[in-house]
Amino acid sequence: MSIRTLDDLLAEGVSGRRVLVRADLNVPLDKQTGAITDDGRIRAVLPTLGALVEAGAKVVVCSHLGRPKGAPDPQFSLGPVAGRLGELLGAPVHFATDTVGDSARSTVAGLADGQVALLENLRFNAGETSKDEAERGAFADQLAAFGDAYVDDAFGAVHRKHASVYDVPARLPHVAGRLVLREVEVLSKLTGSPERPYVVVLGGSKVSDKLAVIEALLPTVDRLLIGGGMCFTFLKAQGLEVGTSLLEKDMVETCRNLLERADGKILLPVDVVVADAFAPDAAHDTVRVDGIPSHRLGLDIGPETVAGFAAALSQAKTIFWNGPMGVFEMAAFAAGTRGIAEAITKADAFSVVGGGDSAAAVRALGLDESSFGHISTGGGASLEYLEGKTLPGIAALEN
Ligand code: 3PG
Ligand code: MG
Repeated sequence: MSIRTLDDLLAEGVSGRRVLVRADLNVPLDKQTGAITDDGRIRAVLPTLGALVEAGAKVVVCSHLGRPKGAPDPQFSLGPVAGRLGELLGAPVHFATDTVGDSARSTVAGLADGQVALLENLRFNAGETSKDEAERGAFADQLAAFGDAYVDDAFGAVHRKHASVYDVPARLPHVAGRLVLREVEVLSKLTGSPERPYVVVLGGSKVSDKLAVIEALLPTVDRLLIGGGMCFTFLKAQGLEVGTSLLEKDMVETCRNLLERADGKILLPVDVVVADAFAPDAAHDTVRVDGIPSHRLGLDIGPETVAGFAAALSQAKTIFWNGPMGVFEMAAFAAGTRGIAEAITKADAFSVVGGGDSAAAVRALGLDESSFGHISTGGGASLEYLEGKTLPGIAALEN
């Protein structure tokens, strides 16, 4: 891989130079208060930002947050992130209230050596995500004007062909930041020759999001454990009734086909926790998967499933986990995710946790992050990497 790195850039000297850093500061926010509920992605870029600050660069950070529709939308402002980033860096972060407008221009122009600015949400500009090359390019020109060099440390967004990820590096000397390098180094171990048994645990709500990675992983893995909302489409494919659980009807046939080709590698739940409603205080019980009542919905995997999955994990030498096993945000439906996470930490294996939700689950459940081999900041990005897809943000750094 012919990618230049942050160390190469530092070796050239960055003192007094403006360095534009694309970060992924897309952190989860509390729906009521707007407070940052998990700052893992902010912490993850500190090594890169710290090194640039120390080297005396004028650091201009940009990121997206959420999915605003190409125009300013206060609920997706990066303002609170600027505050938190400043706390973690131990120095104030100069926040521009627009991305490439007057505020951004004067904020960048006013930076002293070793100071950090954060531009407002990239996705407040239609050019960022546009499919039109010219529109994206015009926005990339405006962004690129804020840097003498570009660092990509936004691993979580490298699968997006967006202006700040794909078009800006074509316009500036570009390198990979510490986080991007570490993520690629770890994930390439999984696509290379992982130590066996290699066990993958997939959860989360949508099967359709995971089909490509299941297809790609089946030949490589020794066991594929499936929980979360997506397991019900697989259970349906086995001919079981799933009540009012999440079900992607148009995926049932595909799941049946996958199960047929899986050679017994795919393990599905044998019991689930079913509830009367999707609510923290809903009445609930554990039932066998062939006894899901027609009026109830499954919100977690059951204890016998946890035990079976844990047994498979205890044999593993390499583990990749993406997606919660149940609605872990509600205490009544958190035991499955907790049980699997604990089993992963106990296994004598190299373990990688991928995906914003699983990483947030690890922290929300109070588990020790250091007992996992690596916690990826990328959800879609880590899955697409494992699928073997070309990631636009990585390809752009290779040129
Ligand atoms: C993520 O949260 O997966 C990344 O920040 C990318 O966000 P996106 O899926 O909205 O592009
Ligand atoms: Mg995403």
